[in-house]
Amino acid sequence: MTAADWLQRWQEGRIGFHREMPHPALERHWPRLGLDAGAKILVPLCGKSRDMRWLVQRGNPVLGVELSPLAIEQFVAEGDQPALRYRRSGFECTRQGSVELWCGDFFHFQVDEAAELTGFYDRAALIALPPATRQRYAHHLAQLLLPGKRGLLVTLTHDDPERGPPFSVPHEEVRALMAPNFELTLCEVSEARDGLTESVWQLVRRGPPL
Ligand SMILES: C[S@@+](CC[C@H](N)C(=O)[O-])C[C@H]1O[C@@H](n2cnc3c(N)ncnc32)[C@H](O)[C@@H]1O
Repeated sequence: MTAADWLQRWQEGRIGFHREMPHPALERHWPRLGLDAGAKILVPLCGKSRDMRWLVQRGNPVLGVELSPLAIEQFVAEGDQPALRYRRSGFECTRQGSVELWCGDFFHFQVDEAAELTGFYDRAALIALPPATRQRYAHHLAQLLLPGKRGLLVTLTHDDPERGPPFSVPHEEVRALMAPNFELTLCEVSEARDGLTESVWQLVRRGPPL
């Protein structure tokens, strides 16, 4: 999928990945990260995920990065606070309450903007990317986070390695992508809908190498 394909999906409302309720894995496993209230969370490829509101309600401000302006408009329209718009480092940004949404390509989100981030939450980001881009994503995520920073990663597997998104990302691939820069703990594996198996990982950024 190219950027244009994603924008088109949003235009056409083909957003079957969007959940109306917070992801149960977030509620079950977020507390284990032990992040303080106030810790700011990066949500890459955020869509208009309700999980961002859940994080805010729990006391964690959010910085989401999303390609589609429509996704961001819809997120804001579903909220009840005024939105402030501004431009920063080449991104069109929108702040609503404690959620900041940066509209643009995650791979252009720079490390200088990431200093205040304490954690991250990836649900349907890594698995939205084709194989060749997943390595780049894992590396970019690690670059943005200082040692000790932590987060949750939710991945999927299914029986067709060619089909996606969502792409099937087996556990060995998750480990190969993430283990060089993160300590990984597999928290849960569960059967999801339509023959999909969902896995929840805790990741803690370790020191060099990158
Ligand atoms: C499968 S959806 C998941 C959205 C959200 N994480 C959720 O759980 O609902 C992937 C999202 O990533 C966005 N996206 C794809 N490539 C991107 C990129 N390079 N930078 C920022 N957003 C991107 C798409 O527009 C889409 O909204």
